[in-house]
Amino acid sequence: MKRTEIKALLQEAEVGKKVNVKGWVRTKRGSKNVAFVALNDGSVIHNIQIVVDLEKFNENDLAQVTTGASISVDGEVVASQGSGQKVEVVAEKLEVLGAADPEKYPLQAKKHSLEFLRDIAHLRFRSNTFGAITRIRHSMIFAVHKFFTEEGFYNIHTPIITGSDAEGAGEMFHVSTLDPKSPPLNEEGNIDYKKDFFGKETNLTVSGQLEVETACMAMSKVYTFGPTFRAENSNTTRHLAEFWMIEPEIAFADLEEDMDLAEKFIKYLLQYALDNCMDDLEFLSKRLEESEKGKKADEKSMELIEKLRFVLANDFERVTYTEAIQILRNSKPNKKKKFQYLIDAWGADLQSEHERFLVEKHFKKPVILTDYPMNIKAFYMKQNDDGKTVRAMDVLFPQIGEIIGGSQREENLEKLTERMKAMDIPEEEMWWYLDTRKFGTAVHSGFGLGFERLMLFVTGMGNIRDVIPFPRTPQNAEF
Ligand code: 4AD
Ligand code: MG
Repeated sequence: MKRTEIKALLQEAEVGKKVNVKGWVRTKRGSKNVAFVALNDGSVIHNIQIVVDLEKFNENDLAQVTTGASISVDGEVVASQGSGQKVEVVAEKLEVLGAADPEKYPLQAKKHSLEFLRDIAHLRFRSNTFGAITRIRHSMIFAVHKFFTEEGFYNIHTPIITGSDAEGAGEMFHVSTLDPKSPPLNEEGNIDYKKDFFGKETNLTVSGQLEVETACMAMSKVYTFGPTFRAENSNTTRHLAEFWMIEPEIAFADLEEDMDLAEKFIKYLLQYALDNCMDDLEFLSKRLEESEKGKKADEKSMELIEKLRFVLANDFERVTYTEAIQILRNSKPNKKKKFQYLIDAWGADLQSEHERFLVEKHFKKPVILTDYPMNIKAFYMKQNDDGKTVRAMDVLFPQIGEIIGGSQREENLEKLTERMKAMDIPEEEMWWYLDTRKFGTAVHSGFGLGFERLMLFVTGMGNIRDVIPFPRTPQNAEF
């Protein structure tokens, strides 16, 4: 018999139908005459209940039907007696495909902590929480491509190994095939990268932006969605050493249009989650509520689905960096010295505590900060006429802080190279990037959305390690 996936089985709920289901046992419980097996195959958060009549099956048949085992069941779909779901399957034939020794299988039917699940990341797909996250993650990836396709963008695969480190977005991971114990040396006694695999020094990319800009100067609307790597030693709940980033780039468009695109894009993704992932969102919402049970009312986060709807219903607040500094300087936590980093002068880089104050306490909705000081931003950002700020924008979200970073780009060759000189960025290495400004330059803008930061927001999870299958963080590259 052809296998029916549990999602389809529950949706169709065809009483009387003979089916085959396969999956992994979540729990088995029973009484004298009957055993109930909760089976899950990952297609949906819900389990199908298998009813096993103990007159037809003996103890031996069921001995290996334990949590974690994979089984195949032929049986009949019947209306469910219990309240949980409409239908269940009465087993006629039951086969254990792969046993899971209960003495050794680490995932038990009880609730496990997220920390424990992280240590068994290869098995945590089998937990309700990570199953839900995995399905939502897939939906969000799909929605990203759907959005840009509908908007007339082209997807560009930018390189993962890069020969340029000009972006300055973070420390880089070196890529080399030289023997670290005895690398070839040049006449000056330094490592001779001419002898390395690519004939030059190479790294894992921190961003696909510079390459995607070149595509933009021909295709008009492009985006890259790929893995990016940052070797920063930041052990926070919002940083990964390997994360996925979506970077659109639009030609003939200024910062206003860039912000409009960013807001439309995020809202599209949230709406898509609400329209397509409700089962999983409801599960995660309950999970969040339970995990915050002990907290005081004002420490609790907004209910997950309500929070997504709230962001959809409100315009993001657009504020300049200079206005934000005013607000922060006069804020209570600044005056009472509650911030770890006090804001006294214009020019200070904003920390996550400041971003969250603006979003969660002051404006109480997502904020787009614009026009940052030139000195704390990348070389490629469009210089304002004031000579000290650039047309940058960061989108700040509750609980997350920065979810998007972007800017209008400096399209003027002279201004761009002037800035590169000031920042010690070698022009020779960037010849190909500068060509875009030499040949048919145009006003253009773009941004980067951290995919796992988006996932944090959509799922309500508190730690970025729990929204990517195999997190890479300092001192951690297991699996
Ligand atoms: O602000 P960032 O560094 O911007 C860029 O890389 C630009 N090249 C983007 C562009 O204009 N095309 O990073 C963009 C976003 C951040 O807003 C954040 O959401 C995410 O990437 N991000 C991280 N996510 C997880 N772990 C990290 N270590 C991250 N660093 C940045
Ligand atoms: Mg940034």
